[in-house]
Amino acid sequence: MKARLHRPTPATLRRLATVLRNGGLVAIPTETVYGLAAHALNPEACHAIFRAKGRPAHDPLIVHVLDLTHAEQLAELNPAARQLAHAFWPGPLTLVLPKKNCVPDIVTSGGPTVALRSPAHPLARRLLKLAGAPFAAPSANPFTYISPTTAEHVRQGLGSRIPHILDGGPCPIGVESTVLDLTRPARPRVLRPGAISAEQIARVLKTKVTTVRRAGKPGTRLLAPGLLEKHYSPRTPLRVAANPTSTDAGTAVILLRKPAGKTRAGVYWLSRHGELSEIARHLYRVLREADAGGQRQILIEKLPPTAGGLAAAINDRVKRAAAKR
Ligand code: TXA
Ligand code: MG
Repeated sequence: MKARLHRPTPATLRRLATVLRNGGLVAIPTETVYGLAAHALNPEACHAIFRAKGRPAHDPLIVHVLDLTHAEQLAELNPAARQLAHAFWPGPLTLVLPKKNCVPDIVTSGGPTVALRSPAHPLARRLLKLAGAPFAAPSANPFTYISPTTAEHVRQGLGSRIPHILDGGPCPIGVESTVLDLTRPARPRVLRPGAISAEQIARVLKTKVTTVRRAGKPGTRLLAPGLLEKHYSPRTPLRVAANPTSTDAGTAVILLRKPAGKTRAGVYWLSRHGELSEIARHLYRVLREADAGGQRQILIEKLPPTAGGLAAAINDRVKRAAAKR
């Protein structure tokens, strides 16, 4: 199989919506990262996602819906979930809730909960509308590699294993959604930090929001597979450093800000002036470029943990990318 890259014309969107409705796989752009989508209520289609990614069956999938009305068909929503959906949907917030019977076990890894989000990307929404079905969609990368933020990244990782990639350009946010466990609405817990911060969620709910730091035991059904220590990883060993400088030709360096003056080969930067949204948007692309540079190691500049907003999500991804294999 060789993936076809599709430009988003009205005709191709109609065609890809039909592919999805009939149980096929399509990689689609979202505002966070590209997702590998399949009809969420079709177990065979969802199996194909796991096969294409090489993803273990105990790692459940996020289901993408058009809106709150569609979410209510798949999960038992509580008042906190509705409040958050009103505040942040469509957008990068995924809610973990008790599932309804119609959601197949393959989607939830046999568990009693389902993760739901309503994506903001206009092309993802267009496809959801045209297909008239919810989409299960994990990030469109081989298991544990860096998530894709362009159609070309998807092609590099999965091009020989999936038939269709919809090219919607680079993803505007660049890191995956916040995953929030709302199964006990009085005790909301962030399972994976993302663009919607715990503080923003706490302000809407007027309750304390905690952040879970550890995954479950290896081999058991995971509380949050996104919390696996090694995840989002380049193949080249990566280390976080306070002031990464290197004159060593075997070391690539990733800086938070564009340095003044001319830079040597192997020096990358994530933003012009240190804006968090720009760092997040460029993080995965730059990690991939540095990984492809053929160096022995990559040093990435540490982002102060206090910076707030997107900082928690960026630091989380960098830490996992740097975790020892
Ligand atoms: O931004 C995103 O969330 C992207 C785009 C494509 O929407 N998707 C994504 O999916 O990152 P994936 O499969 O790479 O990550 C899914 C995360 C896992 O880390 C897991 O923690 C969580 O969703 N998850 C899914 N179902 C869950 C469940 N029932 N309980 C707890 N966590 C769940
Ligand atoms: Mg992923």
